[in-house]
Amino acid sequence: MSKIVIVYHSGYGHTKKAAEAVLGGALGAGADAKLIAVGELDDAGWAELDAADAIIFGAPTYMGGPSADFKKFADASSKSWFGQKWKDKIAAGFTNSATMNGDKFSTIQYFVTLAMQHSMIWVGLGMMPANTKAATRNDPNYVGGFTGLLTQSPADASPEEAPPPGDLETAKQFGARVAAVTARWIAGH
Ligand SMILES: Cc1cc2nc3c(=O)[nH]c(=O)nc-3n(C[C@H](O)[C@H](O)[C@H](O)COP(=O)(O)O)c2cc1C
Repeated sequence: MSKIVIVYHSGYGHTKKAAEAVLGGALGAGADAKLIAVGELDDAGWAELDAADAIIFGAPTYMGGPSADFKKFADASSKSWFGQKWKDKIAAGFTNSATMNGDKFSTIQYFVTLAMQHSMIWVGLGMMPANTKAATRNDPNYVGGFTGLLTQSPADASPEEAPPPGDLETAKQFGARVAAVTARWIAGH
């Protein structure tokens, strides 16, 4: 069974909602998956990250990049980097922000760079976008991510209201995909 850790920051709860949906997808696909909030990381949490087959990074986009709390975690991961403890693990990432675009991709690109520094193997969203005239806001991948999962929560919406159902469904399918790819990667090695 593949072991997946979703390590995330969420200042106000919206990215946490997305993280929970990613977790649901990974668990549904048969992975041994868990969430760890960056603020709760202790020695046992770092050990779980080092032992995982896949790590999924999640953060809100703040000022056009990952939140400072997530960056603090990324900087602290230099200890694992020194020993290349995450080498050849699967990596993937997601971000949530208020604006439909809002420079979310800068956050995803940062996650890719972090994964490459750790010699990990990046897995993207793997879903077609909802980009036709018939598309509606609640269609899976309406926000149109490829390199990672993108969700959007209007600035005045509570975590109970947003991200909307279509984005949460996208998150679920993303979690299932990372679990499936990780299982195939483990089986082949
Ligand atoms: C300091 C700060 C900076 C933000 N910068 C952006 C931004 O660059 N782009 C954007 O679309 N939304 C931005 N937002 C809005 C958040 O991304 C949005 O409220 C998101 O849902 C917060 O997620 P969270 O509840 O997990 O913290 C910003 C919010 C804060 C507090």
